[in-house]
Amino acid sequence: MNKTFYVSTPIYYPSANFHIGHCYTTIIADAIARYKRLSGYDVYFQTGTDEHGQKIENKAKEAGVSPKEYTDEIVLDTKDLWGSLNIKYDYFVRTTDSDHMEKVQKIFKKLYDKGDIYKGEYSGLYCTPCESFWTESQLVDGKCPDCGREVHLLKEEAYFFKLSKYADKLVDYYEKHPDFLLPIYRKTEMVNNFIKPGLQDLCVSRTSFKWGVPVDFDNDHVIYVWIDALSNYITTLGYPDEKSEKFKKYWPCDLHIVGKEIVRFHAIIWPALLMALDLPLPKQIFAHGWLLVEGNKISKSFGNYKDPREYINEFGVDAVRYYALREVPFGNDGNFSEESLLARYNADLANTLGNLVNRSIAMCKKYFNGKVSDVKDYSEDKEFLEEIKSLKSKVDSKMEAYDAGAALECIFDVLRRSNKYVDETTPWVLFKDGDLERLEKVIYNLLESIRICTILLQPFIPDTCNRIFYQLGIKDTSFEDIEKDVSFSVRAAEVLFERK
Ligand code: MSP
Repeated sequence: MNKTFYVSTPIYYPSANFHIGHCYTTIIADAIARYKRLSGYDVYFQTGTDEHGQKIENKAKEAGVSPKEYTDEIVLDTKDLWGSLNIKYDYFVRTTDSDHMEKVQKIFKKLYDKGDIYKGEYSGLYCTPCESFWTESQLVDGKCPDCGREVHLLKEEAYFFKLSKYADKLVDYYEKHPDFLLPIYRKTEMVNNFIKPGLQDLCVSRTSFKWGVPVDFDNDHVIYVWIDALSNYITTLGYPDEKSEKFKKYWPCDLHIVGKEIVRFHAIIWPALLMALDLPLPKQIFAHGWLLVEGNKISKSFGNYKDPREYINEFGVDAVRYYALREVPFGNDGNFSEESLLARYNADLANTLGNLVNRSIAMCKKYFNGKVSDVKDYSEDKEFLEEIKSLKSKVDSKMEAYDAGAALECIFDVLRRSNKYVDETTPWVLFKDGDLERLEKVIYNLLESIRICTILLQPFIPDTCNRIFYQLGIKDTSFEDIEKDVSFSVRAAEVLFERK
């Protein structure tokens, strides 16, 4: 196997309050990774946790445990959440992994030796009780956003990364690689609003807290989060050892999926760091929008937060995956609501997919004792069969653009068309009239449509697909198998999605 594909999610800040919005990035990345695997790629899908920084240090203190104890527990819960969403990652990185930390130190030193990191002075608005620096825009009514107390200007010694040095190179790169950052308006935003007006050097160390990767040649400093966090994409491949097998195989990464609020870090700071390290840049960055509830960001403080596992318990994992991928136009914000989740569940999963599978298999059982083969062609099926045949290339072209929602729409068009085919061909009348030859062809076409749609649905709703394959009696389920000639020997029909 020589085609490789490396896709990453951002690494998550540890939180005991993950909501459905957090799951969105990871569900998209998982669907893309699964799609590529089924297309024959050697896929490396990485996710993880971003565990350092003042906030975590403070929270652990409040909880009366060490920062590591604090994050250990949350990471267990995060892995459980990804498990319950059927996320099949290849590697889970924690920024507290000693291996990662050691490599971050080497990267920092390399940049320092090169002159791209230098010592200077950081000044910011400081809240003494919280021991936190804030920027002007983070303040709430001019006060600390965490405790509401006064902040004051404070200066501390810090290391800086020469981000300003890379502005022209970045503009040039964006001009030569128009697809580097998508959707396209994000690129315009980065170049025109941030890079061209001028970049300031970036503060990359702190002395005001301890919970971070120490600068190994200057122990008063810890490496401030973004160098530690962004480096995860290469440290896990073995970098700085550029000869490491994994690094040679998977870098540059094919796709970083990120939420819109962290585009700047991935589309400006990260490429500049890679340029400074003389490394090739990721092939593409895709910024998705947010899931909102009634126009607001989901958060505990808005009271619109629910543990995603509650939805999974009520609707099943595939309903949640399907909904997240289908409801939000990729790149834009989308509204999440339990009513629209229920509506999609009933309309698409129970009625369109579930009903088609159930009645087609039941008819195959009833009329042919479960066994049908492809015997004869009928001209009146031509248009329907064409639609089934062309589905794979339509889905491929949508997934080229990583648009899972549009891919699902194509598949559900065919499923709806198949339900219509049942109404048009009225198999029960064919049976009553004794036209068994035509009836067998109709049932065969329906099962074939279900088989192909199910093969293509696997990246999105894998559990359901396995249940359908079981009922269809099908074992060969890779994308290549779409082209195979098959006969069916189905098992008893079972309801896939109970109507709610
Ligand atoms: N730790 C940083 C990323 C560092 S990557 C080198 C971070 N973590 S996060 O936990 O705050 O966010 C993780 C992902 O969840 C981001 O892609 C973010 O956009 C996504 N989401 C968090 N809330 C969201 C919604 N309401 N809707 C969609 N995605 C959102 O940022």
